Amino acid sequence: MIGELRHWSGAGALVCFLAAASLAGEISTDERRSDYEFMSPGLQRMQDDDSVNPGMLSVLDGKTLWQRKEGTENKACADCHGDATTSMKSVAARYPMIDPKLSRPVDLEGRINACRITHQGAAPLAFESKALLALTVYVAHQSKGFSVDIPDDATTIYQRGTDDIRAAPGPAQLILR
Ligand code: HEC
Repeated sequence: MIGELRHWSGAGALVCFLAAASLAGEISTDERRSDYEFMSPGLQRMQDDDSVNPGMLSVLDGKTLWQRKEGTENKACADCHGDATTSMKSVAARYPMIDPKLSRPVDLEGRINACRITHQGAAPLAFESKALLALTVYVAHQSKGFSVDIPDDATTIYQRGTDDIRAAPGPAQLILR
């Protein structure tokens, strides 16, 4: 899948990934564009310059959380992963993926929470919480400029997501059908 990771907004980005995955079969590779190309020159400058990009505040929060010891293991992300600028380089570009151990789709937030539970002995962070978003944008920031390259099973991820929603009773069914 093509696109560029310049800015990460948690669930919004995931929805974009999934939407793009569904379209991937219909748009030829050389016709695909990063949404960056459709931004006004002002917005492009803001994305290019970290010192004026408001998303950077969240990245800085994430950097602090990266070093904070948590849970019964009293370990920080940094204790295992070291310097994120090298260990997390291009990692976000591979998500969401089907986790081989869990054999289910995992997005970046899910991966971070899995580390909290299994490796830090801490409770998972609430989805869309400030802390989880900050850690996610911090990890994703290390992939800035890398092309999104989620594996070929992306369509499977999309299909599994829509199947689950369709199977669930409630208003979502009305929207999808
Ligand atoms: C005790 C060690 C440990 C700690 C602490 C830890 N992790 Fe991990 N992390 C791992 C291991 C091991 C893996 C490989 C997957 C697995 O076995 O869970 C991993 C995988 C990851 C991945 C996926 C990397 C990839 O290449 O796909 C990300 C992202 C990640 N961790 C982020 C974090 C964040 C953010 C924190 C802190 C909130 C954290 N980790 C804390 C050990 C740790």
